[in-house]
Amino acid sequence: TNIGNILDIFQNAKLGQEINIKGWVKSLRKQKERVFLDLSDGSTWKKLQIVLPHNKSCEKLTTGASVNISGIVKSSPNGQIELNATELEVYGECVIADGYPFAPRKQYSQEYIRQYPHLRFRTNNFASLIRTRSAATLAIHNYLDSEGYINVHTPIITSNDCEGAGEVFKVIPENKELLKSMVKEGESLEEAFFETKAFLTVSGQLQLESAAHGLSKVYTFGPTFRAENSRSRLHLSEFYMLEAEVAFLENLEDLMVIIEKLLKNVTKTLLDKCETDINNNQENKSNFKWLDQKFPIVTYDEAIGILKSNQNYFESGYEPEEGISKEHELFLVKYCGNVPLFLVNWPKDIKPFYMKEDPMDSTKVLALDLLVPGIGEIIGGSLRENDCEKIKRSHPHITSQLDWYLELRKFGSVPTGGFGLGFERYLLFLTGTQNIKDVIPFPRWPHNCNM
Ligand code: 4AD
Ligand code: MG
Repeated sequence: TNIGNILDIFQNAKLGQEINIKGWVKSLRKQKERVFLDLSDGSTWKKLQIVLPHNKSCEKLTTGASVNISGIVKSSPNGQIELNATELEVYGECVIADGYPFAPRKQYSQEYIRQYPHLRFRTNNFASLIRTRSAATLAIHNYLDSEGYINVHTPIITSNDCEGAGEVFKVIPENKELLKSMVKEGESLEEAFFETKAFLTVSGQLQLESAAHGLSKVYTFGPTFRAENSRSRLHLSEFYMLEAEVAFLENLEDLMVIIEKLLKNVTKTLLDKCETDINNNQENKSNFKWLDQKFPIVTYDEAIGILKSNQNYFESGYEPEEGISKEHELFLVKYCGNVPLFLVNWPKDIKPFYMKEDPMDSTKVLALDLLVPGIGEIIGGSLRENDCEKIKRSHPHITSQLDWYLELRKFGSVPTGGFGLGFERYLLFLTGTQNIKDVIPFPRWPHNCNM
């Protein structure tokens, strides 16, 4: 037989066909004559019902055990496909008394499940989440490909701190002897390997900009790293970011159109392809009315005005100097109809050096954040400053490490713009999951780097 996995069986198996299948027992009912079990191999949220004779081979059969089963495909009384097993082999037993943390038919909290990162792929919800994550990765690549973007692998190890927020992790070889053998006069040991300090990237944007100055429409989708001492439900030390950069982009409106189209298109594809997996994780029922609405656009100054005139809503009032915190973001989203919201034209002095000055107001930059219900910021983006002199004037401390970046503006310079989507934050939004640690296979956060 050439049936591969359980998804395959539901799609392709014929009644009467003899097949072999391997997986984990999800639930089990032993009767005198017969045993009923539900089998999963992770290929789909669906479980394959299996009926087998209750004999000696069933002794080690428990929920969680891994099995190898052969049998004949039948239709069950409720019209579902099921397997009448003729042979059973238990590969690996699974005994709660030995410390297996998941008892049959029990619901566990996310906090509980998170304690077992190596075992949580066995739980229905986490498996659903990881399938959704996989489908979302593919949907993003497919969509950008269909829009003519070139995928560029930007580096993980880099000599710049793109965001300039001092949140980089340093990269140095562990081997001190090696470093001593490489160090040159005047260099510190940590610079010896690359002849410069090196970091884990916080964003591939700057390298992506160089690619856009030659390939026009580019993106990168990989891990990024931030050393923030934040243990909030929205921050990770290692997270995935989708970043796109587009040449010949002259205004923020065009960038917003690109972002809105991407989010709606990818989300529709996913609701089409894996709605049940998405729904399996709804701690908060997600609402997709935004798929048919245009995202509102609010300027920073308008947002401050809204917050000021609603200051009673906040425990300690609101003063414009406070800027826009998470609480304020969430308020603004609710205020604007509880759909994704573009917050644009940010004060220059709180944003990174690469953002383009607003020609109408030199205290502002042509930047945007996309805020979504329940989460707040999931995207940051901007037009890029392509006037070298302006960059040098407003950021005189810019290091010679970034000479190459300024040189992009010297030869064949073009207006560009782009954005970064926090992939895990998008998954929270899509699936209605509360905590970012539950939408990434192996979360890292302060005090946590197990496995
Ligand atoms: O707003 P950020 O810092 O923007 C950039 O890095 C730009 N260079 C992107 C670009 O224009 N190419 O980060 C982008 C997004 C945020 O909106 C947020 O969704 C996510 O990355 N993000 C995090 N996600 C999880 N954990 C963290 N610690 C995050 N920090 C940022
Ligand atoms: Mg940001």
